[in-house]
Amino acid sequence: MIANIAALLYLVAGVLFILALRGLSHPETGRKGNLYGMVGMTIAILTSLAVSSPQHFITWLLILGGLGIGAVIGAVIAKKIPMTQMPELVAAFHSLVGLAAVFVAAAALYAPEAFGIGHPGSIATASLVEMGLGLAIGAITFAGSVVAFAKLSGRMSGAPILLPMRHANNLALFLLLAWLIHAFCNSGGESMLFWAITLVALVFGLLIIIPIGGADMPVVVSMLNSYSGWAAAGIGFTLGNIALIITGALVGSSGAILSYIMCKGMNRSFLSVIAGGFGGEAGSAGTVSGEQKPVKIGSAEDAAYVLKNASKVIIVPGYGMAVAQAQHALREMADAMKKAGVEVKYAIHPVAGRMPGHMNVLLAEANVPYDEVFELEDINSEFSQADAVYVIGANDVVNPAAEDDKTSPIYGMPVLQVWKAATVFFNKRSLASGYAGIDNPVFYRDNTVMVLGDAKKMTDEIAKAMTH
Ligand code: TAP
Repeated sequence: MIANIAALLYLVAGVLFILALRGLSHPETGRKGNLYGMVGMTIAILTSLAVSSPQHFITWLLILGGLGIGAVIGAVIAKKIPMTQMPELVAAFHSLVGLAAVFVAAAALYAPEAFGIGHPGSIATASLVEMGLGLAIGAITFAGSVVAFAKLSGRMSGAPILLPMRHANNLALFLLLAWLIHAFCNSGGESMLFWAITLVALVFGLLIIIPIGGADMPVVVSMLNSYSGWAAAGIGFTLGNIALIITGALVGSSGAILSYIMCKGMNRSFLSVIAGGFGGEAGSAGTVSGEQKPVKIGSAEDAAYVLKNASKVIIVPGYGMAVAQAQHALREMADAMKKAGVEVKYAIHPVAGRMPGHMNVLLAEANVPYDEVFELEDINSEFSQADAVYVIGANDVVNPAAEDDKTSPIYGMPVLQVWKAATVFFNKRSLASGYAGIDNPVFYRDNTVMVLGDAKKMTDEIAKAMTH
């Protein structure tokens, strides 16, 4: 009876998680989605506690103490963390999911009675399979996420580290790992094999992530997110916890889908990301172009005059807007234009910024109406009809080299064709390159005016100049 009620409650939690994912797919329903997720998680935790009903006071103390400390740390970090550091935070959190999977597997190995899966040294084979897979994926996730965190946070160079014969070594390690898991499952739960799997998986996790360059790191984070989900699902089977299996599968599949979407946005194949070697320093401002080509430099007043007198303006935000936190100033500028009768639209590239939906979240925070925000494929044909474009802190996502320079590292990536507009006001602080570390020919075009400066300061000045 209790088991049935618990299964029902876990199902409710699972449905709430699905609704959460659905809600999070659009800024308008994002808050509601978050709320569904929170309610679902609360139901799942309370049900787990009720079902396992720890007998000892100390056990309760440990559980509630752990939950309390974890919740406080999580809340403080979530409040403090700037949006631009979100990818590295996510990488750090994934490492904990991987570590938790390793710990749960170790607990199941040393106290199988508590899990109802056998006795030390004679654990049921099916449980050993789940345990071995969960352990291996968990350890890979942990090691890989630590490297991803170090690369994204600048604690380690974002440049790919390419060891000799890395593909052959990785293949050998993978085969060794598979063999160890096989031997572990046939051994009844030999602890030496358990720790050998852990060690090899840690080394494997480390080695598959270090050759991947900074530019591909967000895809890696989302891929590790997917791994952490599968590790959780594997451990869910060991624990016989339906909620963990459902949640793990949801995280596993949504992370995989997200990785695919990001790869598509950058026109990279998933395999080429995994093989590594692309991209340099994560988040570096890049280098100034060696050649000195002439560029037109404009002032805030120049931009204000043209933008206000246009009939159609498209705004293209990028990573620099996020760094400068210029979204509120941008909305004020757009309001001033709209007041003057200008039609204003925002064009969002799928990989603008440093994480999926980065720009959408910031624009939503500044209360930009959703119906003014358009995806690449819906707005790209409109640039040729725009009187002006205001590029704010974007660079790679508006680089025509992606279309016409076969030697460019971003060749093939779909880009926003801003250069087709009558005039392009290009705001950034210098002529430095963006994430991919390459020059942008748009800077030097006849119809481009560079409005150099911090995105927030410059946009503020343009907005002020419009209202005076
Ligand atoms: P980027 O190409 O990185 O360019 C951002 C520009 O912002 C820089 O050139 C920088 O130039 C400028 N900037 C920095 N701080 C600024 C400030 N305070 N004020 C004004 N400008 C500032 O950005 P993007 O166009 O958004 O493209 C995103 C890149 O990240 C792509 O290469 C994409 O492939 C990569 N990426 C994104 C994702 C996701 S999911 N979003 C995932 C993986 C990779 P200055 O230094 O001259 O100011």
